[in-house]
Amino acid sequence: MYDVVTFGSATWDFFLDLEDFRVIENEDFVTGEGLCFNLGSKVEIEDISFFSGGGGTNVAATFSNQGLEVAYCGGVGKDFAGKEIVEILEERGIVTDYVQQFEEKVTNRSVILTSEGQERTILAYRGASELLTEDNIPWEALEAKWFYLAPLSGKLGRITEQIVDYAAQNNVKVAFNPGSSQLEFEQGKMNRILEKVEVLILNQEEAAQLTGLSYEKEQAIFKKIDRLCPGVAIMTKGARGVVVSDGSHLYHGDPLPADIVDKTGAGDSFGSGFVTGLIETQEIGYGIQLGVANATACLEEKGAKNGLLESEQQFRKTKVERESL
Ligand SMILES: Nc1ncnc2c1ncn2[C@@H]1O[C@H](COP(=O)(O)OP(=O)(O)OP(=O)(O)O)[C@@H](O)[C@H]1O
Ligand SMILES: [Mg+2]
Repeated sequence: MYDVVTFGSATWDFFLDLEDFRVIENEDFVTGEGLCFNLGSKVEIEDISFFSGGGGTNVAATFSNQGLEVAYCGGVGKDFAGKEIVEILEERGIVTDYVQQFEEKVTNRSVILTSEGQERTILAYRGASELLTEDNIPWEALEAKWFYLAPLSGKLGRITEQIVDYAAQNNVKVAFNPGSSQLEFEQGKMNRILEKVEVLILNQEEAAQLTGLSYEKEQAIFKKIDRLCPGVAIMTKGARGVVVSDGSHLYHGDPLPADIVDKTGAGDSFGSGFVTGLIETQEIGYGIQLGVANATACLEEKGAKNGLLESEQQFRKTKVERESL
């Protein structure tokens, strides 16, 4: 019996450190700013590195580091990156028996453009990860206490309801961190999913999108989410920490000071750290402390799986305050 089976993407991430670029303010960009290079010229890159990424495998790395029995169920391509990812997962003690290697598409790849002091920009290719279907999942073999659904992006989102239904029928607890395509599910489908979720993980934008409320309205957001989801609901707030609801109280966790090198994997490392803390102690306060410390450790190294805490490692515990909802 696994402690956790994780679902979500497996990617090969290239990090490019840029110096030779300009940020142009322009309303035509969704964020109001664009990252620009000279067209038709060669742009020098300061540094390049590559690591395995993708939510499904990132969260598996935390669970394994924390001493839990974990398997990843997802798809890669029949290519170099796919083989490399499987090897990395095995070296980390993650069971890879349920990784499917597809021929139709190559492994997901992301190019992450970073520069000191700037937001990162991600160019994402959705490859083999989205080819996983209900039929390629060896359901009977996935005996687990928890399923962790990292964002199932693109077409992979189709299998969300099957996974959650299977979990509900087989007494498996579900942690759910929906991606953008999943947040667009029609209301009825979303409600059917949320009522089977034990831990719902959202960032501010996702919480606002799910509820149709502005993210400053924390009380109202959680009252709405708590009606739809019987479990614990989390809203991570980047540099402003995190707030969690158990349906009767709100728990506020401060961020820890961080020497940020790379934000990739912040959400994954928080969510998986939180779920580990909950599995170990059933205490939301401890879940927040382990989640924040794991996310901070991840931010301080480049690559979504680097820096993650190990199970025996001491960590600084953030202050958690509780108020009635
Ligand atoms: N600038 C920061 N300073 C300190 N801690 C941070 C910072 N950014 C993120 N964190 C930590 O990481 C957690 C998750 O971050 P965030 O809310 O940005 O997740 P996210 O938007 O889901 O990230 P991702 O882009 O990985 O999906 C936060 O709750 C916080 O503990
Ligand atoms: Mg996220």
